[in-house]
Amino acid sequence: MGMNAIRVIGDPVLRVKATEITEITENLARLTQDMLSTMYSAPGIGLAAPQVGVQKRLFVYDWGSGPGVLINPEIKDADGEWVFEEGCLSIPGLSWELLRPKQVHIVGVDLEGKEVSFEADELESRLFQHEMDHLDGVLLVDHLDEDQRREANKTLMGIGDSIGPPLPIVRENLGLSQSD
Ligand code: NI
Repeated sequence: MGMNAIRVIGDPVLRVKATEITEITENLARLTQDMLSTMYSAPGIGLAAPQVGVQKRLFVYDWGSGPGVLINPEIKDADGEWVFEEGCLSIPGLSWELLRPKQVHIVGVDLEGKEVSFEADELESRLFQHEMDHLDGVLLVDHLDEDQRREANKTLMGIGDSIGPPLPIVRENLGLSQSD
């Protein structure tokens, strides 16, 4: 089974809105298998196609109930509020407490082309919302509040050497000017 390199913040592919999948092919099935292997070895509980450089609307996940694939997902409804510490394989080593809806109703298509629908709550819901964001070119740093942004900036500057050249782009993503 193949493995994919996980793209990290600063890579423009993470900022592109992914396109709808019109046909479920053998290649697509193979891609999801590779993505699942990549996700498990990271390790992570979700991985969206743009994170492996593929601009298609699909993600894989396993929040503890076995592997799943969701194609062309759409959030139909969201309700409640829940604060949860969220990280991302594309922003290694960092996580933030974020407020998001507690429940979502999400629909999509599975690998057999069958329509699926989930009423997701808490961790499962958070995972789906996070992966949906990836399909729209949104990263979790876009959800930070002012204080979190300020804190994150300090942190990112502190670990600048360990994450290397993408730092200025990270700072741009955080909505901070070069002179901050
Ligand atoms: Ni992520």
